Amino acid sequence: MKKITVNTSRVYEVFIGGRLLSHAGELLAAAVPVQKALVVSDDIVYPLYGKKLESSLSAAGFSCRNFVFPNGEAHKRLSVIEEILEYLAKEHFCRSDVVVALGGGVCGDMAGFAAAIFCRGIRYIQVPTTLLAAVDSSVGGKTAVDLSCGKNLCGAFHQPALVLCDTDTLSTLAPQNTADGLAEMLKYGVICDADLFEKVKNYKNEDMEALIARCVEIKRDVVAEDEFDRGTRQLLNLGHTVGHAIEAASGFKITHGQGVAAGMAIVARGAEALGLCTPGTAKQIEDALDACGLPQNCDFDADTLATLTLSDKKADGDFIHLIIPRRIGKCEIVRTKQDDVRRLIARGL
Ligand code: GLY
Repeated sequence: MKKITVNTSRVYEVFIGGRLLSHAGELLAAAVPVQKALVVSDDIVYPLYGKKLESSLSAAGFSCRNFVFPNGEAHKRLSVIEEILEYLAKEHFCRSDVVVALGGGVCGDMAGFAAAIFCRGIRYIQVPTTLLAAVDSSVGGKTAVDLSCGKNLCGAFHQPALVLCDTDTLSTLAPQNTADGLAEMLKYGVICDADLFEKVKNYKNEDMEALIARCVEIKRDVVAEDEFDRGTRQLLNLGHTVGHAIEAASGFKITHGQGVAAGMAIVARGAEALGLCTPGTAKQIEDALDACGLPQNCDFDADTLATLTLSDKKADGDFIHLIIPRRIGKCEIVRTKQDDVRRLIARGL
């Protein structure tokens, strides 16, 4: 088991290892008062792990409730948040109680956002059950729901009190879900760790717990430096500006990991064509994405994608903070005019 401490406005531990669900109660009791706990999960994850988690929490003295919503990005909406808030109020939750997010990124983002605004903020913990949530969304305190105009447009920064990544839960993931997580792991490699990039490409022969821990360490360092996303944290958005546009253009049939994968490749090819990136970098990214079963392009045109990037949170008037790979292991934030974003995407497609 690995333990990583995150130093933000709240200091918390991330535990990564097998059989952690069975120890969730004692680990949670060490982090928060033992009172009421609301397990928020979706209708695919809760039947798999909900009872195991609740029995561990109950054995440690927590009084458990659960709120289960339908799986999928389509349900990451304010209407579901309102239902969670009403449930917390009806069950007389207060600031000393805790919300437990059991699931993937959608669940963590929503449970975290409900916790951020209920009674102006109560504690929550993340129990990620997808690779993508384990290496990215469960750490760093970004919580949100989608609006009609774009992803994650309504949210808050609210750090969890604890993150428990039970690697046993990753064994039930469909290959597509694993690939989604690998896209985010490759992203960390492209941003700042060429060795990690090679290992993720070769993930079948690597120790997955160690790779997850390395990704969390990178995220820990970035978030400790820029918790509120005003500077270096934007590096973590490599591939995301174009990726979110691809997801939105597909009506969210294309998953987040697939969007980020194609977004990374498109930006790398575009940057290379415009002389912004070391020759050969795009091919290295394409090969790694291919090895991980991820797409390297999409069927949408540059105008469609460039227009959708305007709704991105990283938009700044007519400018976008685009993350440009210079080479594997080195990326930079480049404030780019909307027209130039369109040009770069067109070259990258
Ligand atoms: N997922 C990017 C971030 O947490 O900043």
